[in-house]
Amino acid sequence: AAAKQAEERGWQLYLVGGAVRDLFLSDLAAATTDEGDDRFEEGANLFMADIDLVVDGFHRAADHAAGVELARALQQQYPSVRLQIHGRFQTSALTWHNDPTLNSLWIDIATARTEFYPYPAANPEVEASSIRQDLYRRDFTINAMAIRLTAPRSGEVLDFFGGLLDLQEQHVRVLHANSFIEDPTRIYRAVRFAVRLGFEIDPQTEGYIRHAIASGVYHRIQTEMAKFPALQTRLKQELRYILEAPYWTRAIQRLSDLGAICCIHSDLQLTDRLWWQLRLVDRWLRQFDTDHQVEHWLTLLEVLLAELEKSDRVKVAENLQLPADSIDRLQNLDEMQQYLQSHLPKCDRPSQLYQALIPYDLPTLVLLAVLVPRSIRRQIWQYLTRLAPVKPLLNGNDLKALGYKPGRQFKPMLEALLAVTLDGEVRDRTEAEQFIRD
Ligand code: CTP
Repeated sequence: AAAKQAEERGWQLYLVGGAVRDLFLSDLAAATTDEGDDRFEEGANLFMADIDLVVDGFHRAADHAAGVELARALQQQYPSVRLQIHGRFQTSALTWHNDPTLNSLWIDIATARTEFYPYPAANPEVEASSIRQDLYRRDFTINAMAIRLTAPRSGEVLDFFGGLLDLQEQHVRVLHANSFIEDPTRIYRAVRFAVRLGFEIDPQTEGYIRHAIASGVYHRIQTEMAKFPALQTRLKQELRYILEAPYWTRAIQRLSDLGAICCIHSDLQLTDRLWWQLRLVDRWLRQFDTDHQVEHWLTLLEVLLAELEKSDRVKVAENLQLPADSIDRLQNLDEMQQYLQSHLPKCDRPSQLYQALIPYDLPTLVLLAVLVPRSIRRQIWQYLTRLAPVKPLLNGNDLKALGYKPGRQFKPMLEALLAVTLDGEVRDRTEAEQFIRD
């Protein structure tokens, strides 16, 4: 439908970016499965997360917002589709959330970002050059291919930079030497794609990464963060993608090998201790956050930031626009740590430990657990495994059934009951009722 709308207006429409990459990966997977070659399966399974379309080939000044016009036309044609327009970037996003077969499909329609030609773009060289420029601005050859969707040459593959060959040879390769200087977050993307797809970073591209880092590109991220919020948004997005992926340990290790952890902050290094902390937090979260209440990636990021001096860690968290509770946690970390270290050794009874730790949520507790000495960590572990799950033996209704009049005294009564339950002095309902009567 989008192609038809574009054709009616004399425009060209292309499928670009990740969808094209994943389409070819699934082709490669299909072609190699019979031969027992599963190299491409990982990419193939990820097929079609997002669909990015680019409109091109327009010539009137009004066509400047071609992508937006096309999206509006599609929305009229399919009223259930939700439309968001980002005028500044001439892009629009369509969400097909009502169609169960499409499972909330995102379609971005952008207008090819290039100069405007004052003459009709019927000339294929001009058409090719403007989509070519759009693709040239992209990160890696495997992400810089397009498939034309409009007639008469629909289905044609535009691969100006050797993306298909790199997909076959499993290489992550940039299009030009300055790519990482222009956008340092691409360092993280290179690692993400390499680890996720099981590809190699091409040696020359790795050289460009190392050169970008050696020339202090990370310094720019930090000092210009406030000036370029887009850079921060992208860095945060990449950190999130990496830290919430099942392959995050390999990605972090690879980033560390490349010296790229310092893009988060120049003082940051993946020491053995930090590595141990990250894996411990990951294990604890998987064990205790069974109903997925906590954003694991965010807690892992907090562990990384906790390495920094207080003022730096808060500044980085603010620049990355982390949620307020993350920033608070990083701000108050030293005080909370000191409090636990001085107070927990004095807790002789389980109920005292429970009282001391109940104010902290799970992300705070796991973060503190990796910072405190072993004995304190064991107490946090005891709290999480044995005390926090304890259910009260009686509730307010039970107290009413025992003949007590509902009122303010219920709360201290139930708290006292919980304390003796935690301390093992009361073990069942009968003993609990007896305790209340006494
Ligand atoms: N892109 C880029 N530089 C960046 C981020 C994105 O050049 N720093 C380009 C890439 O060519 C990418 C496209 O923008 O293909 C869309 O970005 P995104 O949706 O983040 O990536 P996908 O390739 O679609 O990857 P994924 O499958 O992980 O969504």
